[in-house]
Amino acid sequence: MALPRHHLLFLVAIIMLSFADSTVPEDPLLLFHEASSKDNNFIMQSTHVLNLKSFDKLGQISSSPKMVNVNDYGARGDGKSDDTLAFKKAWEETCSSGRAVFVVPQKNYLLKPITFSGPCKSNIAVQITGTLEASDNLSDYSKDRAHWLMFDSVQKLSVKGGGTIDGNGNIWWQNSCKRNQKLPCKKAPTALTFYKCNDITVEDLTIKNGQQMHVSFEESENVIVSGLTVTAPEDSPNTDGIHITNTQNIQILNTVIGTGDDCISIESGSRNVQATKITCGPGHGISIGSLGSGESKDFVSGIMVNGAKFFGTTNGVRIKTWQGGSGSASNIKFQNIQMEKVTNPIVIDQNYCDQATPCKKQKSAVQIKNVLYQNIKGTSASDVGVQFDCSQNFPCEGIVLQNIDLQHEGGREAKASCNSVQLSYRGDVNPQCP
Ligand SMILES: *[C@@H]1O[C@H](CO)[C@@H](O)[C@H](O)[C@H]1NC(C)=O
Repeated sequence: MALPRHHLLFLVAIIMLSFADSTVPEDPLLLFHEASSKDNNFIMQSTHVLNLKSFDKLGQISSSPKMVNVNDYGARGDGKSDDTLAFKKAWEETCSSGRAVFVVPQKNYLLKPITFSGPCKSNIAVQITGTLEASDNLSDYSKDRAHWLMFDSVQKLSVKGGGTIDGNGNIWWQNSCKRNQKLPCKKAPTALTFYKCNDITVEDLTIKNGQQMHVSFEESENVIVSGLTVTAPEDSPNTDGIHITNTQNIQILNTVIGTGDDCISIESGSRNVQATKITCGPGHGISIGSLGSGESKDFVSGIMVNGAKFFGTTNGVRIKTWQGGSGSASNIKFQNIQMEKVTNPIVIDQNYCDQATPCKKQKSAVQIKNVLYQNIKGTSASDVGVQFDCSQNFPCEGIVLQNIDLQHEGGREAKASCNSVQLSYRGDVNPQCP
C-alpha cells in the first residue's frame, strides 16, 4: 500500500552527545577524551520511527496507515477473559501490512506471554492507551519463564500511547528465593523485552509490578526511551526498572523509576548509553553491572548519567563487578546528580557478591578506568558517602571526583572509603579519602 509522501513523517533524531569536557583538560581525563572520541563518540545513528501525530485524527485521514485494533480480532478487554489469541492475530496482521498501527484501546486486557516477532513488512507503531495485564497463573509461563511481552527482531518500532503495562508480579515475588530462602531460585519473566530491535522509541507509558525486570533492551541498537514511569514495591525482588545488555546507542530521557532493584542496570556489551533527567527511588540506584559474574569477560563503555535525582535509594551511582571476571568498564560519566538520603551515593564495588554462599577470593577482575563524578550533591543516609572498593590486582584507574558535596543526613560529615583506587580531585570535593 503506497502512501502519499506527506503522510510518511519520520522522526529523525540525530543526537550528538559529546563526551568531551572542555573544562577539565588535564590527565587522566585526557586519556578519557581520546578513548571516547575514537570509539565512543556518542553519536547516535538516525532513528526512524513513525510519528504518531499524523494518526491523531484517526478517521479523518483517509490514507492513514492501517489501524489494527485488537478489539476487531476478538479481544474483550474485560480484565478477565484471555485476550492472548486476539493480540497474536492482530500482531500478525500489523506486521504483515505495509504500514500499520497496532491499537490497544482504553480497556484492561489480560494476557499470557506473547512474542511479537519481526521482521515486519514496514515500520510499526504500537499505540497503547489501555492496560495490558499479565496472567498470574504460573503454568502459563511453563514454556518460557523469562519473558512475558517480547518484541523480537522488530525494526523501526515505536511503542507509546500513555497506557499501562502491568506485570501483576505479586505471585512471582511471593515465590522468589529472595523472599523465602527455602524456595529454589528460579527465573521470573521480564515484563517487556526488546530483543534484536533496532531504531526504536519507547515513550509515554507506565510499566508496573514487573514479575522480575520491567523493561529490558537486549542486543538492540539506536533506542530512545522517554517519558516512562516504572514502579513496583520497594520490597519486590529483582524488579530492575530498565535493563540494558549488549545494546548500543541508547538514550533514556525524562523517566521516573521506583522499584525493588536497580532503577537502571547496564550490563555487558553495552556502549553509548545516556540517561538524562532520571528520577530514581525507591530502589538500588543506577548500576553499571554486575559485570564479570561466573568469570565472564565483559566490556562496557561510553556511559553517561547526566541529570538524575535519587530519593532514599540504597545506592546512587554504582559500578559493581564480581571477582574472577575480566574485561573492562571504561569512559563513564556521572554528572549533575542530586542525592537525598541515599545509603551509598557513590560506589565502586569490585567485590560484588549476590549469591547465597560467600564468594571466594580471586585474582582477576574487570578493569575499571576513566570514571568522572561531577557535580554530585546531597545527603547520604549512611556515614560513607563515597566508597571505592577496587581490586588489588587491577586497581581502578583514572577516577576523578569534581565538585562533590555529600553530607551525612544527620548533619555529620560523611566519609570516603577508598581501596586500590587511583584518584584525583577537581574543584571542591567533600568527602575525600583519608
Ligand atoms: C492455570 O492454568 C492451568 C492450565 O491452563 C489450569 O489447569 C489451571 O486451572 C489454572 N489455574 C488457575 C488458578 O486458574
